[in-house]
Amino acid sequence: MSNTSNTTGSTDNMAKGLEDVVITTTKLSKVDGIAGHLYYRGYSIDVLAQHASFEEVAHLLWFGHLPNKAELQATRERLARERYLTPGLVDSLRNIPSTASPMAVLRSAVSLLGHYDPEAEDTNHEAVMDKACRLTAQIASVIAAFERLRRGQELVEPREDLNHAANFLYMLTGEEPDPAASRALEMYLILLADHEFNASTFAARVTASTMSDLYSAVTAAIGALKGPLHGAANQKAMEQFMEIGSVENVRSWFEKAKAERRRIMGVGHRVYKVLDPRARHLREVALQLNEVAEDHRWLDIALKLEELVESDPYFNERQLHPNVDYYSAPLLYTLGIPVDLFTTIFAMSRIVGWTAHVMEQWADNRLIRPRAQYVGPIDLPWVPLEQRG
Ligand SMILES: CC(C)(COP(=O)(O)OP(=O)(O)OC[C@H]1O[C@@H](n2cnc3c(N)ncnc32)[C@H](O)[C@@H]1OP(=O)(O)O)[C@@H](O)C(=O)NCCC(=O)NCCS
Repeated sequence: MSNTSNTTGSTDNMAKGLEDVVITTTKLSKVDGIAGHLYYRGYSIDVLAQHASFEEVAHLLWFGHLPNKAELQATRERLARERYLTPGLVDSLRNIPSTASPMAVLRSAVSLLGHYDPEAEDTNHEAVMDKACRLTAQIASVIAAFERLRRGQELVEPREDLNHAANFLYMLTGEEPDPAASRALEMYLILLADHEFNASTFAARVTASTMSDLYSAVTAAIGALKGPLHGAANQKAMEQFMEIGSVENVRSWFEKAKAERRRIMGVGHRVYKVLDPRARHLREVALQLNEVAEDHRWLDIALKLEELVESDPYFNERQLHPNVDYYSAPLLYTLGIPVDLFTTIFAMSRIVGWTAHVMEQWADNRLIRPRAQYVGPIDLPWVPLEQRG
């Protein structure tokens, strides 16, 4: 990192936004932004998307290895047991205005969950692992509960016989989920589970590095994910496709957006200079879902817009391609998930990575405390209040 010990030195060598700055090592995930690959603990997401369940990926990230049969069963059961929300939390959710932003609700709910957890302040590894499972299970329950309450519906009790993705859809709708829909959501959850030092993971690790608690670290991460330059880009991408409205409008919308220098949401990435490998998989899943879906409009718009982006010199020069949030949008929409809930579904997956990163941070902790170079005036004379203009 840049050396800021001399407060009057040049700022030329500073990496704005910490671009390309490597601050530590990690064994959790590797992002190859040039070749367009992503690995979790050495396994390519191409392999995991083809073979793994979400529970296997969670076990892999938390414990460092793919589970054997007994371990997988234990992780499944542990996650299923933790799905029940405490009545105190449900009461709080009932009192939140239905107009509140679902990501803000999730941020508050995770913070509140800590009050009901006797292990909340315990940073011992076993207790942290318990909480990682608990939070992964309960974040899904909170999202489903808030959605039902704001629709004026009663909550649906979780089902321990269903896997994480299927149970979430069940708690959201109260109906037996379609296996293709459950697998599509599971693929989404697998593909977004970790991504090296993205902004929300960094926020979690900075918080953890002060030896604060896991609930605080995850609350900080949710706050970071909520921004449209990070997780909320999936919602913004969907709103953009809805604004376009039809495949016929894509070209004129694109030309106008370029003329107005608007950002295309779901396009561009700090690390990927080629197509985001997750976008490639999510496009495939969205295409498969659309084979049985009645309304193809949003995916068709996304495909057409991608074609224009990929053949446009402005986007080529800047190496801007669809990112993870681009095809997440039509995929989550086809699954019947309300648009303003999209970013919470991102959190429902990334909770695994956040908690694994906090454990990695605490295994070899040092306070994360970078420097900033002060560039304002110094030693100003004090002016009494009555003499100030
Ligand atoms: C992801 C993102 C924040 C990365 O930003 P970054 O690494 O800081 O890149 P910059 O903001 O410096 O952008 C570099 C150049 O590409 C342009 N650019 C970046 N993303 C763009 C987009 N989505 N649409 C149009 N132009 C874009 C910028 O205007 C800038 O152009 P310039 O060099 O002429 O000034 C950015 O690409 C973005 O805002 N994308 C849309 C939001 C999104 O999808 N976020 C989810 C990320 S997974």
